[in-house]
Amino acid sequence: MGPIKYELIKTCKQTGARLGRVTTPHGSFETPIFMPVGTLATVKTMSPEDLKSMDAHIILSNTYHLWLRPGEDIIEEAGGLHRFMNWDGSILTDSGGFQVFSLSDMREIEEEGVHFRNHLNGEKLFLSPEKATQIQNVLGSDIMMAFDECPPYPATYDYMKTSVERTSRWAERCLKAHTRSYDQGLFGIVQGGEFEDLRKQSVRDLVSLDFPGYAIGGLSVGEPKDVMNRVLEFTTPELPANKPRYLMGVGSPDSLIDASIRGVDMFDCVLPTRIARNGTCMTSTGRLVVRNAKFARDFRPIDENCDCHVCQNYSRAYIRHLIKCNETFGFRLTTYHNLYFLLNLMKQVREAIKEDRLGDFREAFFELYGLNKP
Ligand code: GUN
Ligand code: ZN
Repeated sequence: MGPIKYELIKTCKQTGARLGRVTTPHGSFETPIFMPVGTLATVKTMSPEDLKSMDAHIILSNTYHLWLRPGEDIIEEAGGLHRFMNWDGSILTDSGGFQVFSLSDMREIEEEGVHFRNHLNGEKLFLSPEKATQIQNVLGSDIMMAFDECPPYPATYDYMKTSVERTSRWAERCLKAHTRSYDQGLFGIVQGGEFEDLRKQSVRDLVSLDFPGYAIGGLSVGEPKDVMNRVLEFTTPELPANKPRYLMGVGSPDSLIDASIRGVDMFDCVLPTRIARNGTCMTSTGRLVVRNAKFARDFRPIDENCDCHVCQNYSRAYIRHLIKCNETFGFRLTTYHNLYFLLNLMKQVREAIKEDRLGDFREAFFELYGLNKP
């Protein structure tokens, strides 16, 4: 038995969504779940205590960023990433594959790995499957990700085919390089863009390597919603039912619900934390730009239907004032609310799966969120 366990508890009779339980060396949580993003070993503006109080069980961090700053050697000296950042819940680290492609314009992909430039100082860098795996072994995350290529959208069929085949070879090299399979699980990443046969090929290649979990990558890269839904519809049924599925980089409320319905178990996205620092909140009735002038004298909470600590204690007018003045406490308040909102949304999704009514929940949520309007 490896370090990552997945138990399928039940599937929703109305939608087919999965209620499951994932266990890692740092705890256990029900799925579908949302993972807050802590790129630089901090979920921006949140303390681990804040995250605990909103019932977050697993957070995501980034190999590429921690490799550059402070360097994995310092994190190793601290006793690993959990101890370095004082987070004793589960941690998933992305491999750096995506960041190399999204943050660096100068890059050259070869079989061995990727040459690119440091996004901070322009220095030449090289990342390979072995290097990305070795850094994640040093960080000590519970779930590590294979080093993959995330091609842009749209990409040609021929480009995608070459890329998928290379990503499969890289996945095998990551497994070979992995030295801590007793306490860290390594997930494979399915690529293939919008092409059904390439997605299926990617799944077959990775499943033959027997990873303890599978991510679906290369989505939320600018494609329309119906493309993402269609890709999930032909991809998730090919994945083993007894392993978790993780949809990378997706965090809008409607996509979380629609991908759960298509059999996805885990999600991460910078969306809730990033828009929070821009004065935008997710609420049960849609997005609310709290920095707008119209909220200057609005003493109601951000979301009247939210029972988070922020909505119980602070007004739109106060939070708007803080954010207009660039007061960091304002960013803490919007970040806390947005993360609470998504974690709570996923809790409601899990409750609805338990009671075979996720279809009804989706209908009601979309109606109130304003997504059913033409
Ligand atoms: N984050 C969002 N999409 C991706 C992807 O395709 N690959 C990786 N490694 N990370 C991602
Ligand atoms: Zn709230």
